[in-house]
Amino acid sequence: MRNILKNVKRSLALAAVALAGISLFPGTAAARSDDGQAQSTTQPVVGGTRAAEGEFPFMVRLSMGCGGALYSKTLVLTAAHCVSGSGANTSITVTAGSVDLQSPNAIKVKSTRVLQAPGYNGSGKDWALIKLAQPINLPTLKIADTTAYNNGTFTIAGWGAATEGGGQQRYLLKATVPFVDDATCQSAYGGDIIPNEEICAGYLQQGGVDTCQGDSGGPMFRKDSNGQWIEVGIVSWGQGCARPGYPGVYTEVSTFASAIQSGAAQLGG
Ligand code: ARG
Repeated sequence: MRNILKNVKRSLALAAVALAGISLFPGTAAARSDDGQAQSTTQPVVGGTRAAEGEFPFMVRLSMGCGGALYSKTLVLTAAHCVSGSGANTSITVTAGSVDLQSPNAIKVKSTRVLQAPGYNGSGKDWALIKLAQPINLPTLKIADTTAYNNGTFTIAGWGAATEGGGQQRYLLKATVPFVDDATCQSAYGGDIIPNEEICAGYLQQGGVDTCQGDSGGPMFRKDSNGQWIEVGIVSWGQGCARPGYPGVYTEVSTFASAIQSGAAQLGG
């Protein structure tokens, strides 16, 4: 899996176009139709559908080809593997405020600094914060600081590939995926999961719905006990996208909540 991760990262770097995406695998949709309607298995299965304008106002796209979520009006939470290190960085453009990356209403703000997770070495600890040059006045996404929400059904969203190996998306896609427990995920990945630092989600048996290249750094989230969205995962890696037997692997946000809070304070909130 280290190899897998490396390959994923390499292709991300080469593509330099990454971003959110919901990945789909042809032929597996029928098993998942929520409304019980039969779906043709000869059609490509779309694991995601278009998000409505304003549905996930905290979602942002990063110019290096990743996703992210507004942690505060001046900070974006993303993946460590989406950034090159910590320190001054004015090279990232953050696009927010529309599901359509080409919308005239989209807000674009530059970065000023990056904080990559302390101790990040390419496996686990896959989180980073990006400080913005100007505040973005949109709703933020709260992070989970207990394990209470590390279960159930999660929402994923992004502008990344809609099929494994496919192109980036202009419009934000969304999907839902069920939690996969650590033991199951660990056996799927031959022991390459770091259980305390990673949380898995996906349709283990059938595949078909997943995040994919370009979705990295984006949030995996659910409703909390007050009915508010809460971030439980950060898109990190997987073997291919939406393959049966290979759930998506996400940074376990609750594990890093206090480190993220400290990092945010270091960056001035
Ligand atoms: N590492 C990828 C990225 O940089 C995300 C891959 C997620 N893969 C998955 N099967 N869930 O965009």
